Amino acid sequence: MNSCAAGRSQCRKNMKVLRAILIFGIWVPMVNSAQTTLKDAFTNEFFIGAALNESVITGENPTEAGIVKTQFNTISPENALKWESVHPQPGKYDFSLGDRYVKFGVENKMFIVGHNLIWHSQTPRWVFQSTNGTPVDRDTLLARMRDHIFTVVSRYKGKIGGWDVVNEALNADGELRDSPWHKIIGDDYIAKAFEFAHEADPQAQLYYNDFSLEDLPKRNGAIALLKKLQSEGVRIAGVGLQGHYRLDSPSALEVDETISAFSSLGLKVMITELDIDVLPAANRRRDADVSDRLANRAELNPYRKGLPDSIQQQLADRYASLFSIFLKHHGEINRVTFWGVADGDSWLNKWPVEGRTAYPLLFDRAGKSKPAFFGVLKAAQIKSEAKLSDGSSDSAR
Ligand code: GLA
Repeated sequence: MNSCAAGRSQCRKNMKVLRAILIFGIWVPMVNSAQTTLKDAFTNEFFIGAALNESVITGENPTEAGIVKTQFNTISPENALKWESVHPQPGKYDFSLGDRYVKFGVENKMFIVGHNLIWHSQTPRWVFQSTNGTPVDRDTLLARMRDHIFTVVSRYKGKIGGWDVVNEALNADGELRDSPWHKIIGDDYIAKAFEFAHEADPQAQLYYNDFSLEDLPKRNGAIALLKKLQSEGVRIAGVGLQGHYRLDSPSALEVDETISAFSSLGLKVMITELDIDVLPAANRRRDADVSDRLANRAELNPYRKGLPDSIQQQLADRYASLFSIFLKHHGEINRVTFWGVADGDSWLNKWPVEGRTAYPLLFDRAGKSKPAFFGVLKAAQIKSEAKLSDGSSDSAR
């Protein structure tokens, strides 16, 4: 029976109920999702962060700086603390940008990450050479490494909470990359870097960071390396999965298994450089080697005028699915950091092909939240609803 036919007062009551359903069932979640920030959505699970480029650090890009302050509670420096930035010449350190980066984090009460101390890339050639251009010997390079690590880590002692001590030491096959560090010092350059960093700041968390650890040969190589370091008593707190992913790879299962594999070593796992490339693969390799440079071709840059809705949706679904895995492992993961803030500044506009229009992040070129942003929030909402329905509540970070 139509309830209004039951009389005026019943009808009024029904209208009230309907209004309440509308307000609480539809509008409130909409208002909530408009107001919920990423850092609030994951507050009991893990830190959530972004890598900052120079224009965000200096405030030249107030839109992105605003997004960072509102949405994130941890930051990483895209380039500000790399060797070439802080130590461009022998004996000459330049902390102008590094200091502003750390100040930004301190002022906004964020967990501040240092990236990175020892890497083969973005490290000036002089580091490995004597004045006549020949390679330096092991002792000289160890002394340079120690001086660099001590100077940089000590400067930010007590402010930078965790350091990527060694970045990308492995090849795709899981063997140690024959970088100048490895060639000149030998296998133990990694242990030495961790020892120096620990001496310089015993409180800082120290990490090994790399890409494509989801691929089995490289993952197994990393597991062997980390086990060896642990058996030698090296103080290593965690491993960073860079997370430069594509829409279709690595698979959710590979990500899931990789997190389990590293956390079973007793290490914290971090997703340190998350982005999802929606552009056509420019090569067949599944990696993030910054030295790759490929020619631009029209078919490699199909979304110059904007991302079609169907791809926006695929990106949102992919982010939601990845975050549901991260949430499943929330006790093992202590941080998820995006590699950039908004699409326009992503390194993927330049790599591995210069001049493409990339869409890998949660905020568009104008700083507006994309469907991907809501995909990430949706994963958090599904998790908290599941927690409510089974009556559990937990917090792990
Ligand atoms: C690697 C490095 C980062 C950055 C990205 C590309 O993943 O770890 O510092 O250079 O490449 O931006």
